[in-house]
Amino acid sequence: YKRVTVKSLIDMKANGEKISMLTGYDYTMAKIIDGAGVDVILVGDSASNVMAGHETTLPITLDQMIYHASSVIRAIDRALVVVDLPFGSYQSDPKEALRSAIRIMKESGAHAVKMEGGKEIKESIKRILHAGIPVMGHLGLTPQSIYKFGTYTVRAREEAEAAKLKEDAKMLEKIGCFALVLEKVPADLAKEVAESLTIPVIGIGAGNGVDGQVLVTHDMLGMTHEFNPRFLRRYLDLHTEMTTAFQEYVKDVKALRFPSEDEQY
Ligand code: KIV
Ligand code: NA
Repeated sequence: YKRVTVKSLIDMKANGEKISMLTGYDYTMAKIIDGAGVDVILVGDSASNVMAGHETTLPITLDQMIYHASSVIRAIDRALVVVDLPFGSYQSDPKEALRSAIRIMKESGAHAVKMEGGKEIKESIKRILHAGIPVMGHLGLTPQSIYKFGTYTVRAREEAEAAKLKEDAKMLEKIGCFALVLEKVPADLAKEVAESLTIPVIGIGAGNGVDGQVLVTHDMLGMTHEFNPRFLRRYLDLHTEMTTAFQEYVKDVKALRFPSEDEQY
């Protein structure tokens, strides 16, 4: 795929090719992620945690999401860029939801939006889809509802919640979502959902029976190190590497080892 589209993702699932997705919030990182061949860059509202240091995703604003998204868009040549609609920008009614989605598309140049929730937000999703804006669903652990859940532990372990999740997933496909994120649900349930749909299901903490995987980039790079859920595979230990680099720099400056003769004019 020279350029990944929502159609490519559906084709990937049909052909049994797994989809790779990572979060991106800024130009420099997005350029590396895109150049490495990651299929989808998610401008996640996890920027609220990762970029701004908030404890939850709730505080990030639509303007801030647009700033992150436009930085990512300037960096990419190939990846599909999906942007989270932040908390408070789509829950009150379908018109507000559409207005928020339109702002993201117009002001950042993003390719699609993602929204947390099932039948509660069905009318808003339909309204956005009717405007020609692709929507990715998000079920299971939906961090914008953290104060309803009270904890970040695995969702849908009980039959009632699993049944609702399956119904919501079916509904999201039926109304026209192009893909779905399942966050922190039992692997068997995620597999069952993925097998029951033709749109791709992208998992985070949802096992290997789904159609693709997503991780928060700063977590998989090991830049964050106080967050250790079992689903997180760290591909680097950048926290250690960066700390060492910064310490070296401090030492060099203090000891007048930097800059050297050939590092000055
Ligand atoms: O905001 C985010 O990073 C996300 C992913 C974890 C799916 O929504
Ligand atoms: Na998110």
